[in-house]
Amino acid sequence: MVPVYLETFGCQMNELDSELVEGQLIALGYTMVRHVDEASIILFNTCSVREQAEQKAYSRIGIVGARKRAGEELILGVIGCMAERDGLDLFRRHPQVDLMCGPGELDRLPQLIDNVRRTQSMQRQGDADPLALADRSALAGNRSRRSTTLAAAEDNLESLDLSRAFTPRSRSTKEHSAYVRITRGCNKFCTYCVVPTTRGAEVHRPPDHIVEECKRLVDAGVVEITLLGQTVNHYRYQHGTAVTVDGREAPQVGPGLSAFRTAYSGTARITTFAALLHRIHHEIPALRRLRFITSYPRDFGDDILAVLRDSPRICRYLHAPAQSGSDRILRLMNRGYTVSEYTEFIDRSLGMLPDLSIAGDFIVGFPTESDEDFEATCALVKRIPYKNNFIFKYSPRPGTTAFERLKDDVPDATKRARNNHLLALQTEVSRQVHQRMVGATAEVLFDEVRVRRSPRAKAISPQLTLRGKPFHEATVGHTDEGHEQVQCVGRTSGDLICAITCKSEESASFLIGKTAFVEITAATPLLLSGALTHS
Ligand code: SAH
Ligand code: SF4
Ligand code: F3S
Repeated sequence: MVPVYLETFGCQMNELDSELVEGQLIALGYTMVRHVDEASIILFNTCSVREQAEQKAYSRIGIVGARKRAGEELILGVIGCMAERDGLDLFRRHPQVDLMCGPGELDRLPQLIDNVRRTQSMQRQGDADPLALADRSALAGNRSRRSTTLAAAEDNLESLDLSRAFTPRSRSTKEHSAYVRITRGCNKFCTYCVVPTTRGAEVHRPPDHIVEECKRLVDAGVVEITLLGQTVNHYRYQHGTAVTVDGREAPQVGPGLSAFRTAYSGTARITTFAALLHRIHHEIPALRRLRFITSYPRDFGDDILAVLRDSPRICRYLHAPAQSGSDRILRLMNRGYTVSEYTEFIDRSLGMLPDLSIAGDFIVGFPTESDEDFEATCALVKRIPYKNNFIFKYSPRPGTTAFERLKDDVPDATKRARNNHLLALQTEVSRQVHQRMVGATAEVLFDEVRVRRSPRAKAISPQLTLRGKPFHEATVGHTDEGHEQVQCVGRTSGDLICAITCKSEESASFLIGKTAFVEITAATPLLLSGALTHS
């Protein structure tokens, strides 16, 4: 049993890829270990979205590299977006890296590992030449941007998604939640972003594959599924156009933005994002929560909102990043919408779903961003009831249009000041959004037990009901001053974090992976707290 350590950086796509890679390796007889020191194969699944993300990975690579130079027999692999972006340059600059695999080629990873293992053992016996680059690296280059038919026929990556192991995961703390990819890649080419290069063209998975995967996850005990796509609302599958050799529908390259602008004229049957959501909700009644990220603030039709309105188990959560509140900056970013189109979309969504919770992302210090542009961003943050925003300082990324054409002319001190200012504004907005929940009752899905010493823990003595069943009163009670405080923490349907106090770790653990109603009694900008309801 060869021990493998896999560390993941970056977004949920990477987390899912790591899970699939682990599944493949375990099926081949490898064991996954939790500590890097226990492993003989070390893999870093990397992110390239900002320079800081890459630096984190480089420092880890450096540490393992030093161990190898000191004589330890290890295999070091870099997989994911950084491998794709850096390409073979990474081998030149970091000769301790044994193998490299881009996110579009992960189905080939076991083969690469095998190549390296065989060669290393032969080299130890003194009878092997170093491996050719092609045998220790798998990068998509621009292969994934070929024609629809070719890409569909060659979609080996679909087999990776289909190979998913449905047994409970060994490493995850949240076995009750799972990600399911619906779209790979991205065709939007926002000028600052590496994702269209590292992940390749937008490819939609056949709806039958997605529904089947969701069903099997629910059968295996998953209660919450998050559908993943870089622009998840652009999901659009045209049936009958791409078929595999064995007659099944194949993944298919996205049709481009024009498909959303003009009414579709052909007779082809299309599964839209709205139809996909409806299908999953309808066909899998045992699924308690269905959610999706990330929404592109364009082409988010009323049909999607109507499905949400009519489907109680779809979460009231919309992550729709605006990136900037200035039309001029949005144009330079190639985002394809104006601020008023964005606010129209949010207002329309809140009009149809008043309990919708909204989150976003903003980039500050994009090239040429003036005080006035930044003010417009602040105005947008004050205008929209965001529950939270991820705020990033612009990071120039080689290979992107912004890097090639626009000077990174906002000084770092200004970026930092804008970042802090926007964060402070957002904290105030978050405080209001969370405060509004006080007095309400919300369904919470519990994820995590937290134990902390609390000198001022308050006494609570709620009567409990869990999904309609009386819950033994003794499991929750009061905590005395100076005692350990045990909390069970979960999320509302709108993704607001909510904590309740429990009597013991055991009683808190009992709630993990379950939903229960909580009466909200207090709020901070980041956290709701309350007690389980009586009924
Ligand atoms: N597909 C998603 C975002 C994926 S990347 C969308 O379009 O909304 C996640 C976030 O990283 C982006 O929303 C953006 O805010 C940020 N980001 C991407 N490239 C960046 C860069 N070069 N510098 C700083 N932040 C960046
Ligand atoms: Fe990047 Fe834009 Fe695609 Fe999001 S939509 S992944 S920001 S190119
Ligand atoms: Fe990073 Fe790649 Fe995700 S660049 S954000 S890991 S798609």
